[in-house]
Amino acid sequence: SNPNHVTIVEVGPRDGLQNEKSVISPSVKVELVNRLGRAGLTHLEAGSFVSPKWVPQMAGTAEVITKMERMPGRHYPVLVPNMKGLDLLLDLLAKHPPTSSTPAPTNEIAIFTAATDAFSKANTNCTIAEGLERLEPVTRKALDHGLRVRGYVSVVITCPYAGKVDPQKVKEVTKALLDMGCYEVSLGDTVGTGNFTTVTKLLETVMGGTNAISAQKLAGHFHDTYGSAVNNVQTALNMGLRTFDSAVGGLGGCPYSPGATGNVATEDIMYALKDSPYTVAGDLEAVAEIGDWISKTLGKENASRAGKAIMAS
Ligand code: HMG
Ligand code: MG
Repeated sequence: SNPNHVTIVEVGPRDGLQNEKSVISPSVKVELVNRLGRAGLTHLEAGSFVSPKWVPQMAGTAEVITKMERMPGRHYPVLVPNMKGLDLLLDLLAKHPPTSSTPAPTNEIAIFTAATDAFSKANTNCTIAEGLERLEPVTRKALDHGLRVRGYVSVVITCPYAGKVDPQKVKEVTKALLDMGCYEVSLGDTVGTGNFTTVTKLLETVMGGTNAISAQKLAGHFHDTYGSAVNNVQTALNMGLRTFDSAVGGLGGCPYSPGATGNVATEDIMYALKDSPYTVAGDLEAVAEIGDWISKTLGKENASRAGKAIMAS
């Protein structure tokens, strides 16, 4: 495959909406996924099978993934925190088998843990070790059912509860997820404090030394709280990463990371890569229009600088 192809994992329908306070109807979520798919985005994180007591906004994910347009060859991962979430998903998949015209609702789950026990407890009510132990059989069962499994490590730079994070710990947890069977691990700067120096240090540690992890197994997931997210994408790109998570309109935030803002905007990454040797799927103008639409629909300012500029021109 083309070594200059950059894969964008659009997390707007999941990370982008999970922290919104007002209830967003499944029909808006479905329309968001449909529009993003028509704009040519290939990887769309569609929702979460998590506890509705913990994240009420994701409660309608079953409805979203069965009603959204599923395009052949695309990926629509959903977050799964435990066996209960996987079993709910597998039941739903059994009821919605693929047909000649419509693929299954999804072929991929994303499991998630963190680089600190404090964040892991706040987000999933267990330590890292307990979380990994819980996720091992979930991953095995998902793989047995033909799903692929993506991993997330949160708080790879700083933790809202424990402060500065040791890159060596990130490497350990990443390796555990890959050993479990994840095809890729997304490194989450949940708080959005990363910058050139700390992201470089993180990736040097994870990709170097003993048990070095290759860039092909890694993705970058940068929240933009301090405005460095596009720069962090560029830094990681220069160090060999080719997959980045982003959200249309710069939506996003984790309910258990107070004060953190949205993900790097999809439009901003696409704009940054324009005219470069890198290729990326999707139509920038169309994505900018979706960012404008979803921001207005949610009653918030469009957080994508490129998106706003495109809409104003
Ligand atoms: P718990 O309270 O320890 O779990 O939560 P429990 O097993 O005691 O269950 C509590 C209740 O939830 C029970 O209901 C369960 O049935 C139900 P009750 O008996 O009280 O009526 N329940 C479920 N319902 C539906 N689906 C499920 C499920 N599991 C339990 N899967 C748990 C533990 C892991 C469930 C909880 O902490 C949880 O759901 N956490 C998810 C938090 C979350 O979604 N966070 C945001 C996503 S991660 C993120 O944003 C970071 C990322 O973007 C990267 C980055 O930026 O760093 C990925
Ligand atoms: Mg996130």
